[in-house]
Amino acid sequence: MGKLDGKVAVITGSTSGMGRDTAYLFAKEGAKVLVTGRNEERAKEVVENIRKDGGVAEYVLANTQDLSSADVIFNACMEKFGTCDILVNNAGQLSITPIFELTLEEWTQCINVNVTMAMLLGQKFGKVMMDKGEGHIVNISSIAGTSAHWGPTAYCTTKYAMNGLTRAMANEMGPNVHVNGIQPGAIKTAMLDSVGGEAACGFMIERSPLKRVAEGTEIATAALFLCTSDSSFIDGQLIRVDGGVDC
Ligand SMILES: NC(=O)c1ccc[n+]([C@@H]2O[C@H](COP(=O)([O-])OP(=O)(O)OC[C@H]3O[C@@H](n4cnc5c(N)ncnc54)[C@H](OP(=O)(O)O)[C@@H]3O)[C@@H](O)[C@H]2O)c1
Repeated sequence: MGKLDGKVAVITGSTSGMGRDTAYLFAKEGAKVLVTGRNEERAKEVVENIRKDGGVAEYVLANTQDLSSADVIFNACMEKFGTCDILVNNAGQLSITPIFELTLEEWTQCINVNVTMAMLLGQKFGKVMMDKGEGHIVNISSIAGTSAHWGPTAYCTTKYAMNGLTRAMANEMGPNVHVNGIQPGAIKTAMLDSVGGEAACGFMIERSPLKRVAEGTEIATAALFLCTSDSSFIDGQLIRVDGGVDC
């Protein structure tokens, strides 16, 4: 028996990285999974791999820089599965542009993908969960959400905002819908590769007791914990999964 048998889970940004690992784990634990992203080839591959393992998954393509994508994702979930029990707001846009070179366009894209979409999906799916009297939302933030060491202005701002969003959503959606967040440290994904991969993480590795970067599966297991009764008295929290890095 799986820990998520009978549940429907929407995982944004599950065509790659830790979102994909979360989709695989949640499907293995019995959830029906809606995979989202922009890349159709990778979306299909994730769905096929889940089905090969006996799981249930569908995908929907949506660019979350465009806020009308919230309706696209919500409607796809309702059409394919008819309900929703779990939302993981994982899709994220990195921005490493320093403030004096940052354009309003990049700032807006980053805010839309990392914050506004999480709020819009939280509104839509949170309402379904409130009506059912149960549900779990997990927001994937970052250690850049509590320390400006880890990202320039746009990215950092969105992750700080996501932490506030998590607390506020938990407050408004209790007592039956749980909303928590995860603040990953350095995780081996395409996003990390885009800024130099593990080799660029020397400072972080040095300042952490575990002395390594992590696999996406180590975020997936934390997300699973936050979506089951194993975390029944945890709400409105931001859990750092960062190897103990101390800033
Ligand atoms: N890797 C790290 O070290 C690290 C550390 C802290 C926090 N995080 C956070 O973890 C989350 C997942 O990142 P990751 O490291 O797993 O990166 P990743 O492998 O690059 O995956 C990012 C995912 O987000 C989706 N996505 C990005 N922009 C999108 C857009 N405009 N519209 C729709 N989907 C979009 C991508 O889908 P497509 O490619 O199909 O468009 C992909 O599935 C992000 O929120 C990130 O900020 C990562």
